[in-house]
Amino acid sequence: MGDWRDHCRRQHQGRGGLNIPLVVMISGRGSNLCAILQAIADKTLDADVKMVISNSSDAAGLKYARNAGVPTQVIHAPAKEFEQQAQNIIDTVVPRLVVLAGFMKILSAQFVDHYRERLINIHPALLPAFPGLHTHRRAIEAGVGEHGASVHMVIPAVDAGPIIAQVKLNVLPCDDEQTLANRVLIQEHKLYPKCLQWFAQNRIRVQQHAAFLDDQPLPIVYSEQL
Ligand code: GRF
Repeated sequence: MGDWRDHCRRQHQGRGGLNIPLVVMISGRGSNLCAILQAIADKTLDADVKMVISNSSDAAGLKYARNAGVPTQVIHAPAKEFEQQAQNIIDTVVPRLVVLAGFMKILSAQFVDHYRERLINIHPALLPAFPGLHTHRRAIEAGVGEHGASVHMVIPAVDAGPIIAQVKLNVLPCDDEQTLANRVLIQEHKLYPKCLQWFAQNRIRVQQHAAFLDDQPLPIVYSEQL
């Protein structure tokens, strides 16, 4: 019995394709999940979403999974039991990546370590600026000229970990929290599938404190037009 790398390799070989298996975890709207499923349908992302896990049965994003025929699991449980149940489900799938897409529960160091180098997140700010919540409001209040989104590997510290890629845009004088959030979200929907495709192409190498694309240090930083 090898580790997850062997398992993923066997899964790929078995299907004769290169699609990487993903598990996506959501808590709400699910627009990033939708963008990932759309990229798969458009064949710009060589992946299969094997399972969507939510901590809320009200998560609107569950409909995208159901429409795409992707199995869903809603887990209502306190933190420790939630993680144990999620881990049991995820480890049955053996995904190449566990993709956090608007997943709002803080995960324990034990859980994060279990998926070391396989847990990825998108955060609506140019990390390390504005970790945590209400990033768009805080960016406007801070008067920054640029804002954006970051795709990063997850480590036990919140909204930290090696950054894979970022997209930045100018904060306009007329922006309010909502207009800025809308503009960032449009870019998120391009950035996340693009990063996942690099994993599918086996071009990413992650170390504890750094990530590389084709052996070049990351992150790549895009300007608004991805
Ligand atoms: C996104 O802005 C994402 O960056 C953040 O939470 C939001 C989720 O949106 N982590 P959605 O559920 O994908 O629509």
